[in-house]
Amino acid sequence: MNNNTIIILDFGSQYTQLIARRIREIGVFSMVLPCDVDIEKIHSINPSGIILSGGPETVTKANTPKIDKSLFDSNIPLLGICYGMQTMAQELDGVVVSSDKREFGHANIKMAEVSILFEGVNLTEDSLDVWMSHGDKVDQLPRNFSTIAQSNNCPIAGFQNEEKSWFGLQFHPEVTHTNQGSKILSNFVYSVCKCKKNWETSDIIQSMVSSVKDQVGNDKVLLGLSGGVDSSVVAMLLDKCIKENLICIFVDHGLLRLNEVKEVMTTFQDLGINIELSEASDIFLSRLKGVTDPEKKRVIIGNTFIDVFEKEANKIKDVKWLAQGTIYPDVIESSSDGDKSSVIKSHHNVGGLPERMDLKLVEPIRDLFKDEVKKIGKELDTPEHILKRHPFPGPGLGIRIMGEVTKDRINVLQKADKIFIDELKEANLYDSLSQAFVVYLPVKSVGVVGDERRYADVLALRAVETVDFMTATWAHLPYDFIGKVSNRIVNEISTVSRVVYDCTGKPPATIEWE
Ligand code: XMP
Repeated sequence: MNNNTIIILDFGSQYTQLIARRIREIGVFSMVLPCDVDIEKIHSINPSGIILSGGPETVTKANTPKIDKSLFDSNIPLLGICYGMQTMAQELDGVVVSSDKREFGHANIKMAEVSILFEGVNLTEDSLDVWMSHGDKVDQLPRNFSTIAQSNNCPIAGFQNEEKSWFGLQFHPEVTHTNQGSKILSNFVYSVCKCKKNWETSDIIQSMVSSVKDQVGNDKVLLGLSGGVDSSVVAMLLDKCIKENLICIFVDHGLLRLNEVKEVMTTFQDLGINIELSEASDIFLSRLKGVTDPEKKRVIIGNTFIDVFEKEANKIKDVKWLAQGTIYPDVIESSSDGDKSSVIKSHHNVGGLPERMDLKLVEPIRDLFKDEVKKIGKELDTPEHILKRHPFPGPGLGIRIMGEVTKDRINVLQKADKIFIDELKEANLYDSLSQAFVVYLPVKSVGVVGDERRYADVLALRAVETVDFMTATWAHLPYDFIGKVSNRIVNEISTVSRVVYDCTGKPPATIEWE
């Protein structure tokens, strides 16, 4: 019996995590491993099927990434997507050529032969709208393969060796632009790999609850709660598992948004969750005095957070565990990282804390993607305003105030940010954005109020739309709306003379200004 899991071998495609998410949405657990992972690891997982992702390389050059050839002797069903298909073809003695015509975007494919992958897929005028992104293509089939799909530019847009359960697709079934891509993946997962549904919200919660209970037993667990989605869902989950043995600490570093401390405290107190406030803004501000370099600010805020948290934690007796809201994208081993150890984004957690405090780590949502965390959060009755909250960086307003962080600047920024966010909510725009905030600029600008000239602060509004925060587009907010926000800010905050709107995408800019 295999393990009812699909492994995605990552050849470096920007869509790799998307494949994993799609498989889970279909209802089956999937995990991402680097393409050159030790074959023993694959066998120890005993997957029901393997998907080879796309990737930026070309198999027509020497030394490009390959899978372990012994996988072809393992009886595990394989589906290669784009580069994954090409590397499969090459390993099995087919021919892949570099094409001078790159095909990027929508394409129409026609079915060339009946395939289990296309069962139940409805064709419009005999063809399917798919998403292509490739330069190379398979030019000659490997032995015992047949063509199952064709496009104008790509005569072998899909192939199969039905007997072995090996398939390849030149297009990307995982992106939503591919019509019925989910159906194709679902055919692979259920009809080819014979998986059973094992990944639905209620099952996930049940299994997380029982594994947390097994792990921590009757011990006390400490959680740094920020009010963000991840730590809040961890709090809701742990509350369900261990009730009063969960102790949450909310550190107020003075760089939070207006009224945020009160809102977070009352939200969790009302839910009956054990939460303690550590009011530490003075120490953060004093350590940030005179500091203008963004990375130095991050390090100071991170280290101070650890100091404060440790001091608070030491007041609580008999704690054995520290809970963290680490999620799957933080820990995926990526083939493009070079270093194959788990990569944890340093600025997203309190690195080093568990060792320093001699606590064991419990990370209940470590296997979940962000959208899964939200679904589970909903099922656990996490308040909607928390689940829908835009992400807020750990260093808070500290990296939204360009230059030195001072109390006055924090006050100005907090007020302006509240105006912007309130107006977005009022205009029903907040939920359609991924992140929106105001930035304090370290320049003064001349303005006139009545008959008086004033030399005052400049603020920038930033609003972006993004799926994964790796790339983002600036939001095309209505001019009238921007005008209204600008008016309110300059009228209501006397030290501000000018408001500008940031119309830069990522890349070339980042989302935050520092
Ligand atoms: P950038 O600015 O890198 O932001 O395009 C991508 C996402 O990461 C968040 N971000 C941070 N989060 N600590 C955090 O916890 C940080 O130092 C930090 N810097 C950026 C940012 O808000 C966005 O969601």
